[in-house]
Amino acid sequence: MSILGLDIGSHNVKLIELLKNSNGVTLLAAGSMPTPPKTLSSNLGVDQQALAHLIRELIKGTGARSTDVNISLPEAQVFTRVIEMPSLSTRELTSAIKWESEQYIPLPLDQVNMDYTVLSDGKDTANGKMKILLVAAPKALTERYMQIMELTELTPLAAETEIIALSRSLVRSVPTVANVMILSLGAQTTDIAILRKGILMFTRSIAAGGDALTRTLSESLDFTLLQAEAYKKTYGLERNILEGKIVAVVKPVMDTIVSEMKRAIGFFEETYKNEHIGVILLTGGNAKLPGLIPYLAEHTGIEVQQGNPWVGIAKDPRFAVLNAEGPLFAVAIGLALRE
Ligand SMILES: Nc1ncnc2c1ncn2[C@@H]1O[C@H](COP(=O)(O)OP(=O)(O)OP(=O)(O)O)[C@@H](O)[C@H]1O
Ligand SMILES: [Mg+2]
Repeated sequence: MSILGLDIGSHNVKLIELLKNSNGVTLLAAGSMPTPPKTLSSNLGVDQQALAHLIRELIKGTGARSTDVNISLPEAQVFTRVIEMPSLSTRELTSAIKWESEQYIPLPLDQVNMDYTVLSDGKDTANGKMKILLVAAPKALTERYMQIMELTELTPLAAETEIIALSRSLVRSVPTVANVMILSLGAQTTDIAILRKGILMFTRSIAAGGDALTRTLSESLDFTLLQAEAYKKTYGLERNILEGKIVAVVKPVMDTIVSEMKRAIGFFEETYKNEHIGVILLTGGNAKLPGLIPYLAEHTGIEVQQGNPWVGIAKDPRFAVLNAEGPLFAVAIGLALRE
């Protein structure tokens, strides 16, 4: 049975259809379309209909057949946290987590859909504590997404945050690296995750992404947004362009991102002394920014690579153009890979 992964971003809607059977995983359909501006955050019926219409167009255009879909929720609007708990039985755990979560979740518990996953049972950690991934999505947010899904006539099977989907799709490309950071550079947000032995141990969402880079370029160099976008894509963080002017202009935005990365690295090294992050995997539309890899490697001292979500997925030659589009589809691929 094939399944759809649908990543509705502020800039682009991405769709992937994967078939999983005894032969492995095969790509059946893939495509993306620009999100109609401001529709994603709107509660208006017309905006939701516009989005649903676009999703149906995308399905038609890509020839996707399945109606079962996993969708992603924007990291910035969902509370995700890895917490530690003493080793407890399943029943004890449920009530203990409910009680614990009140101090982590800044909304009344009756306004969120809460879920948790046991990441580690405590047998492999020095202090013997369990690690729990706590996820709480505001009900208003999930209801909005469910209304959009209803209009598309798709059957949503699961909703999960972008980082969880990314962890699934990207970690497969670096099976020999114990500790991996994922940096997802979207349009409005940048999301950071750290995985230890494939298990999520840290997540953070920053309200600065590729749009902020484009905006500073346009304001500082007196370009229109379209010109600034073109400049960003062509020159990115290349140091020797316009005597380094572009890098200088976008530095404040990059500094915000780099300092959050460093804080996350510090937190990891504090938690697991003598362990290090082996690689940083880039993803999201802005991962293709020219010069980004050496820039981040220099500022963090860690190897940086483009994340490759296509590893282990068989695809027809007609999909060859997608090889370079891994950063765009990584969330949708992770969603479609969900068991
Ligand atoms: N070749 C490129 N080089 C640099 N940036 C690019 C390139 N192509 C697209 N982008 C940027 O990627 C972003 C769109 O990517 P993406 O589709 O991942 O965003 P999104 O998922 O819609 O955003 P968000 O997750 O923040 O809601 C835009 O900021 C765009 O400027
Ligand atoms: Mg995105």
